[in-house]
Amino acid sequence: MVIERAGVVGSGLMGSGIAEVLARAGLDVVVRDISEQAVDAGRARIEKSLARGVERGKLSEDERDAAVARLHYTVDMKDFADRQLIIEAASENEDIKKAIFAELDAIVTAEDAILASNTSSMPIIRFAQSTSRADRVLGIHFFNPATVQPLVELVVSELTDPQVVDTVESFVTDVLGKVAIRATDRPGFVVNALLIPFLFSAIRMIEAGHATKEDVDTGMVNGCAHPMGPIALADRVGLDTCLFVGQSIYEETGDPAAKPPVLLSRMVDAGMLGVKSGRGFYDYSAK
Ligand code: 3HC
Repeated sequence: MVIERAGVVGSGLMGSGIAEVLARAGLDVVVRDISEQAVDAGRARIEKSLARGVERGKLSEDERDAAVARLHYTVDMKDFADRQLIIEAASENEDIKKAIFAELDAIVTAEDAILASNTSSMPIIRFAQSTSRADRVLGIHFFNPATVQPLVELVVSELTDPQVVDTVESFVTDVLGKVAIRATDRPGFVVNALLIPFLFSAIRMIEAGHATKEDVDTGMVNGCAHPMGPIALADRVGLDTCLFVGQSIYEETGDPAAKPPVLLSRMVDAGMLGVKSGRGFYDYSAK
């Protein structure tokens, strides 16, 4: 199966990054969000990132123009009808995602189309069971920023056809140039099962007054060669996303390390979501 026509559901932080990766790899991409406003924000994010890619010498102006021409924006799910691979990157809400998978199942015509979710931690099997083709559903989990982070986790549910996983693994490595790892359909898969307890430990450390956020971040950057400290990383991932992922791991496993710190919940209640809202642990309003 040669995948040439892709779709991305959701043009937020991850959806726009995934759409950009696909278009840069030469695919024709339909990007859908629920309102014109959301679609316009996604388009602006992608075009800004493509411009940054040109500035950094990662792609030429011609390649940027070709990528822009391969991206089609819509608010209509029916525009996914002829797609061969669709990656859902909507908000981390199980009911919303299940409804999207049920709708895609009714719309997408090719029997061998692959339906994927970029969920950070929700069970893939629940989305698969919302369709009549559970064997063709899997998790394709990108990392933020999707254009820069090489990793893609392939999440294999109890019902995913092994041939679908092989097809997607070849696609993400050979066509997208990413590094793939496989994970079973368990909370947090591989990376978030390790990352979220780490981020939460850092937040608890500042909540307890044990160290300042700046010192926690300086410590991990300079002591362990992390590209950014855990508090800055939580802001970049999005504090709401960190909260949802922690809740979803904690609900299923009861692991206290994944229990969201109270400080994190309160900040999300306050609309302090990190970089995307202009304020999280740090202030981004000037940038
Ligand atoms: N297109 C292509 N390349 C780009 C780009 C773009 N739009 N923007 C930046 N780049 C490239 C740069 O050219 C540079 O490449 P080089 O190393 O070859 O020169 C590289 O990306 C780094 O870019 P910058 O120099 O602008 O930025 P920094 O060096 O400050 O790095 C960062 C920023 C990439 C965010 C880095 O701090 C980092 O990797 N942080 C950790 C991020 C992380 O851990 N992400 C995972 C989060 S977990 C997740 O997503 C899972 C979810 O489910 C929660």
